[in-house]
Amino acid sequence: MTTPVNPDPQAKTATQAVAPKKTQRLGDFELVGKLGKGAMGSVYLAKQLSSNRTVALKLLPRDLAQEEEFLERFRREARAAMKLSHPNIVAAYDMGEVGNYHYIAMEFVDGPNLELILQKKGRLGQDEVLKVALDMSAALEEAEAHKIVHRDIKPANILSSNSQRLYKLTDMGLASASAGDKRVTMAGFCVGTPFYVSPEQARGDRDVDSRADIYSLGATLYHLATGRVPFEGSNPMVVMTKHLQEEPDLPHVREPAVPLHLSALIQRMMAKDPDKRQQTARELRQDIERCMRGEMPLPPSPKPKPAPRPLTPTLSPLGRGQGEGATAPAPVLAPGPPAPPLLDRIFAIADELAFFLPGPLRLPAVALVGTVVLLAMLWLATVLLKR
Ligand SMILES: Nc1ncnc2c1ncn2[C@@H]1O[C@H](COP(=O)(O)OP(=O)(O)OP(=O)(O)O)[C@@H](O)[C@H]1O
Ligand SMILES: [Mg+2]
Repeated sequence: MTTPVNPDPQAKTATQAVAPKKTQRLGDFELVGKLGKGAMGSVYLAKQLSSNRTVALKLLPRDLAQEEEFLERFRREARAAMKLSHPNIVAAYDMGEVGNYHYIAMEFVDGPNLELILQKKGRLGQDEVLKVALDMSAALEEAEAHKIVHRDIKPANILSSNSQRLYKLTDMGLASASAGDKRVTMAGFCVGTPFYVSPEQARGDRDVDSRADIYSLGATLYHLATGRVPFEGSNPMVVMTKHLQEEPDLPHVREPAVPLHLSALIQRMMAKDPDKRQQTARELRQDIERCMRGEMPLPPSPKPKPAPRPLTPTLSPLGRGQGEGATAPAPVLAPGPPAPPLLDRIFAIADELAFFLPGPLRLPAVALVGTVVLLAMLWLATVLLKR
């Protein structure tokens, strides 16, 4: 079966960058070649003349740049991203306007992104997957310290630096700017890829925290380790609904070469309930280090909490969108009415107990254990009442 990634046929590395026919000048920048194109605009390899440095220059398309509300968000997020300084985050140097364009000048990274690597290699071995995981947990730790949620972690946004021998997260903060883009949501279109979206984002939650990034990184690792995305579907809405409602095949079931501890790490990162994932990037790093020693990740801490409410899909044309060219409306799934707390607790405990079971077995196991516990409690109550 083919992997329905959404490759950008124009994405290039430095050596493959398409050179413009004649050198183009854009204010302080000399465009050397086109690196690729994404949902927010095109990226060029360029030389910043005043600083004499090579940069990756992201130019916003004119129609997007005309919306004042979008621009304000873009500037705010780009300013926040410029405060970050970390080897695993692509540095944002500068932003501004030149001619009819709005630009962000970034550190140029001299290797392919992970989407291109996947297209070439199919899947990665466990050591490389764990290297990506460790580098990205360090990037997320830095982002968390500055209260920035990336919101669009995916293979195309993780670049490999050949010269520094590490992975770097790019587009930090930019997805938050586009997430509220009215043009996209009002049209009900889905732009970008739905393959790595967290359930809370698929549901349309606005105030997601860094645990959404942990889910998307988990889905990315799933793809790297197995060579397949967790959920496939005929259109983005189907894929997003699966992220909300279905358990993916466990990575080691999908691809037997994936060791159990790596499979369990990914499974925990991709828990539907954010409370059951690693709660912070630091906790994630500790789990990755455990995994590197061949140990299983820690189970979620059993802290008392209100049980997650069941989700009732209510399709709305106003879903959040991502990705170029896709045209299906995104689903917005509204929470259903709260279940009785006792029942919720019984089934939440059963769910914890079934944590390590393969996806297809989990639901029946939870239902069985929950029902048995419930019947036992009813029997006990009847006996006590008779007395
Ligand atoms: N800092 C960079 N250094 C080198 N190449 C880059 C850099 N940033 C982006 N690129 C290249 O440009 C391509 C386009 O990037 P862009 O971020 O616009 O698209 P995307 O990640 O595929 O989609 P999205 O718009 O959703 O982020 C990337 O796939 C990558 O190959
Ligand atoms: Mg990108």
